[in-house]
Amino acid sequence: MIYLNNAASSFPKPSEVLEAQAAALAAAPESQHRSNAADGGTDATALCRERLAFLLGTSRPERIFFCSGATHALNLLLGGLPQQYSCAVVTATEHNSVLRPLSNSPVFAGRIAIVPCDNAGRVHPAAFEEALRAAAERWGPGVAVVNHCSNVTGAIQDAAALAQAARSHGFLFLLDAAQSAGSVPLRLDGWGVDMLAFTGHKALLGPAGTGGFFVRDGLRLRPLIYGGTGTDSDKLTYGPDEQAPLEAGTQNTPGIAGLLAGVEYALAHPDAGKSLRDELKKELDSIPGVRTYGPETGAGAVLSFNIDGLSPSDAGYILRNEFDIVVRTGLHCSPLIHDAIGAGPRGTVRASFSGLNTPADVRALVQAVRQMSKSPAL
Ligand SMILES: Cc1ncc(COP(=O)(O)O)c(C=O)c1O
Repeated sequence: MIYLNNAASSFPKPSEVLEAQAAALAAAPESQHRSNAADGGTDATALCRERLAFLLGTSRPERIFFCSGATHALNLLLGGLPQQYSCAVVTATEHNSVLRPLSNSPVFAGRIAIVPCDNAGRVHPAAFEEALRAAAERWGPGVAVVNHCSNVTGAIQDAAALAQAARSHGFLFLLDAAQSAGSVPLRLDGWGVDMLAFTGHKALLGPAGTGGFFVRDGLRLRPLIYGGTGTDSDKLTYGPDEQAPLEAGTQNTPGIAGLLAGVEYALAHPDAGKSLRDELKKELDSIPGVRTYGPETGAGAVLSFNIDGLSPSDAGYILRNEFDIVVRTGLHCSPLIHDAIGAGPRGTVRASFSGLNTPADVRALVQAVRQMSKSPAL
């Protein structure tokens, strides 16, 4: 099998990840209090926070919190914002894990502005700024959410410029780094990002069920989940000026040990499949009847395409069953981008790479698509 669905969940994992997770499961559990965000410590959880801070470009590892993944993180962040932030500006590239929490929220529903993207999935800072200005005038302060690297076209947004625009209009800036963490350089402190959501099981090459979020110092969130944290156990409530713990309950410490190994692998292999994506785009663009979507170069390790005469789902079925190649098809949980890129309403076929794919994988897909484009009914 040739696995090209790493934007959904990466496979295979580096052997170091399997070994680290198995070793953590075989060992006595890490002490909860030592791995609490506020406490530092030297166990795998504390070390993972430190290495993630390095990867994300922040000097504040204690402001990184673990949870089960980007969906969980985005819900915790959007649901825990201070009350005065009561509208949202998002982009047409967002994933449903942003669009649905906002659209189903009593606070944000009906107060969401969507900034269009171009036909490659890029959001232009001037359009973003204009939407922020209009939203601030109409509704007051809110939250701006940006998908850093499109899971459909691989387009990477100018996070520094968008964060700056949000700040200048009194908005909090939340970066969805589900696709970029581990694949695209991040500079949280330098860009002035208020919050970030990441996941462990994609480009960070860790196990499913790992991930988390960053909250900048001084921004107090309301936890959606309360429970034991291993500290201050006699205290039942938190005052208005106190930050209640943002990690509650027993953490997935074996998963986090695996994630730590994945983070190390990602730091040591920064290409993360991006050059394979560019090579694939070049090759597919030369095949008549095949259309690709997204920037020429400089994108994440994701490429969408369509083959004339075949629906995305039929193309995916043929790739899987005739060529043993796994891709993903359809809207990729990002329903708003497809009209802008010209792929609505059926979406695209998406190939996505990790640092463990090889040029031979690209050649196999190109050969299959070439054959399918000659006889779509294959
Ligand atoms: C852009 C984007 N945001 C969020 C998510 C959700 O990530 P998770 O699987 O960690 O919940 C995904 C996953 O596909 C994604 O591509």
